[in-house]
Amino acid sequence: MVDLALWDRAVGLLACPVCGRVGDPGPMARTAASLVCGAGHRFDLARQGHVNLLGRAAPANADTPAMVAARERFLSAGHYRPLAEAVTAAVPAGSRVLLEVGAGTGWYVADALDSHPDALGVASDISPAAARRAARSHPRMVSLVADTWARLPLQDASVDALLCVFAPRNAADFARVLRPGGVAIVATPRPDHLQELRAELGLLGIHEGKDDQLTAQFAGYQQVDHTSVVRRIELDESSIADLVAMGPNAHHHPAPQGLTATVTLSVDVRSYRR
Ligand SMILES: C[S@@+](CC[C@H](N)C(=O)[O-])C[C@H]1O[C@@H](n2cnc3c(N)ncnc32)[C@H](O)[C@@H]1O
Ligand SMILES: [Zn+2]
Repeated sequence: MVDLALWDRAVGLLACPVCGRVGDPGPMARTAASLVCGAGHRFDLARQGHVNLLGRAAPANADTPAMVAARERFLSAGHYRPLAEAVTAAVPAGSRVLLEVGAGTGWYVADALDSHPDALGVASDISPAAARRAARSHPRMVSLVADTWARLPLQDASVDALLCVFAPRNAADFARVLRPGGVAIVATPRPDHLQELRAELGLLGIHEGKDDQLTAQFAGYQQVDHTSVVRRIELDESSIADLVAMGPNAHHHPAPQGLTATVTLSVDVRSYRR
């Protein structure tokens, strides 16, 4: 379902990815069910509500519909709710535009939108399956297929709060899209995150958010907040299966049978002001 009024609200934030590649990202406007730039590049709003601004085919390793469905089930079971609360708490009062990059199902930014009733949410992910799901995650969410490592298809200084939860961090382009005084809220796993399951299930896709790496990436920002979310959580068999199925090892590890576990949720949430 395409909410044209919502796209009219969002379109001014967007930048044409094709023109952006040659350094002149024109503004976009909506014409019927398409977004069009001044040079005539046209991007159709998909029936499912998202728009593909990747400008090329999605990479073969993008999250599949089955992985996205597993992530959706896992997150809606609520195991990571304390993390969503910490991320939402880090969004400054009065933020009007919230962007989540590598948003997956859009779960974290949707939670933040609930606490910011005037804000617009933008979910961005390289996986079309994820973007389709994120388009349905909140009535005030627009959803884009876009590559965090390319220039994001957003205007300079258009975003008040940028969320990046377990996802690729392009700090230089985040600085470009954040307005001065805006914040990047970055969640990274601590070394003991899910440690009870990692070896057993081969959860190798968990990127270490090494502190010195983060410090170097966000050197041009001011770190204004740091919270660690550490909890013991109980996972039943189906949640463990979803945890495996939503990650990059889904194809290599069969869903474990009969396994339940008490595991450590351990994540750092840092806020960097631009
Ligand atoms: C570990 S998942 C996290 C998803 C979501 N933030 C969450 O925590 O539920 C990483 C996400 O980053 C996305 N991703 C990977 N590479 C990307 C890229 N270059 N640009 C945009 N998204 C990317 C994946 O498709 C996936 O949805
Ligand atoms: Zn263009």
